[in-house]
Amino acid sequence: MEIRLKSARRYVEEIPTRLRVVGVWGGELTEGGQRLATREQITQMMEELKFRGDFGETLLLPVSASGGNEPEFVMLFGLGAKKRGVSLETVRKAGAKLVAAITKLGFKEAVTETFLAEKFGKKEASYALAEGAILGAYEFKKYKSDPEVKRLRLWLARSSGPAVDRAEIVAEAVNYARDLVNEPPNVLTPAELAERARELGRETGLQVMVWDERQIQQEGMGAFYGVAQGSANPPRFIQITYKPRGKPSRVLAYVGKGLTFDTGGYSLKPSESMTTMKSDMAGAAAVMGAMRAIARIGPNAEVRAYIAAAENMVSGSAYRVSDVLKSLSGKTIEVMNTDAEGRLTLADALTYADREGAEAIVELSTLTGACVVALGQGIAGLFATDDRLGKEVQEAALRAGEQVWPLPLEEDYRELLKSTTADLKNVSGARHGGAIMAGLFLSEFTEKPLVHLDIAGPAYTTNPHSLGPAGGTGFGVRTLVEMVAPGIAEE
Ligand code: BES
Ligand code: ZN
Ligand code: ZN
Repeated sequence: MEIRLKSARRYVEEIPTRLRVVGVWGGELTEGGQRLATREQITQMMEELKFRGDFGETLLLPVSASGGNEPEFVMLFGLGAKKRGVSLETVRKAGAKLVAAITKLGFKEAVTETFLAEKFGKKEASYALAEGAILGAYEFKKYKSDPEVKRLRLWLARSSGPAVDRAEIVAEAVNYARDLVNEPPNVLTPAELAERARELGRETGLQVMVWDERQIQQEGMGAFYGVAQGSANPPRFIQITYKPRGKPSRVLAYVGKGLTFDTGGYSLKPSESMTTMKSDMAGAAAVMGAMRAIARIGPNAEVRAYIAAAENMVSGSAYRVSDVLKSLSGKTIEVMNTDAEGRLTLADALTYADREGAEAIVELSTLTGACVVALGQGIAGLFATDDRLGKEVQEAALRAGEQVWPLPLEEDYRELLKSTTADLKNVSGARHGGAIMAGLFLSEFTEKPLVHLDIAGPAYTTNPHSLGPAGGTGFGVRTLVEMVAPGIAEE
């Protein structure tokens, strides 16, 4: 759906459109509804029809306009009960549900009040509502022969213009990341991902550098190359840099797992597990989305993104179980499972980011099924080698409305990664604690403060969710942006 948001300072009744949306919270009309000329008529209808305003519930009422700015229709939009669990996430979800409800009825223009602005503040509510609307309007119709494109112009009455602008930048970047994840893997090969990064650079002015398979080998990225060597689609190492105008306040690295497809290699995945594996580059997509928004917002930190893009395939040249790879760090790794490939590609990316001078590293990867077992589909696992950085990312995620939860890097387990043949092995062999083992493995490759977000659960969904359709979710973009550029800056 093509959505255009219009932020207006004016009250809802001052913007003449055929459809006016007012909230119903705790069974009562919210602020904008109180001032409707047809208020009494509407309250009566609510009672007669027993409309309680459960969250997302809508009621479309034709109103007998008495001229002036009165609309032809009022849509009551339920915001739920007043008591438990109301947060900005309620407003965000309302934004998404609202655009769906309006377009389903065939309206191309509407005005809505900025829900719950009295409770959360005008800026906060505007941000959440706008973000939800743009995320909710997302569709991926590129490969449909005859797509139906709906259009909507939505006025946000009494909203904050800067907050809506910011929400647009961030939500558009999330949708950009979703697009990358949703591309089929025969289209989005490592070379194509690199091409998209170059395009991003041309559009935003970000610096982009790409290494091909020859340079990757020459530089000594043996762990990364080992994973990539079985595919006819050669790997790419992608670097994207954002530099602020003045002296940077800090230098951060964002690293994203970039497996454009993961078959598991010779430790082959069963076919049902493979059906979602085009999403194994969702970490890379999140990092690219974040860079896109960061370039447009212009924070004071320098941010360097690194993506080791490869495909994990089976062929005569593919790596085997028992192969020993030499990583960029110099550490040798015995491959005990070719499906634990992400950590091998990330090992070299982390070493590289560290050597290039990052002060801290935030890394995102669809790394383990074990993390999904632990936290479910909605929550990312957060592993930190440094408490302060861990807290910083956790707080950014909370403000951004993305769910992360800390898991421990248990030092006692580290010895399980020792190999008799090489310095390390890529899996422990123990059946438990898989997400922790993966985090511990990554922590072998940098001494800098590191946060690893295992996004295997929230990166991709096979069902529609409250902020978008099935497919890539763009998880991580909002947190990464929030971290360097807090959305609602403290006053
Ligand atoms: N890409 C997968 C992890 C994954 C699983 C992502 C489910 C999204 C949904 C990763 O490369 C992988 O296969 N990990 C293995 C590790 C194991 C071999 C130690 C896994 O989780 O089974
Ligand atoms: Zn794998
Ligand atoms: Zn993988």
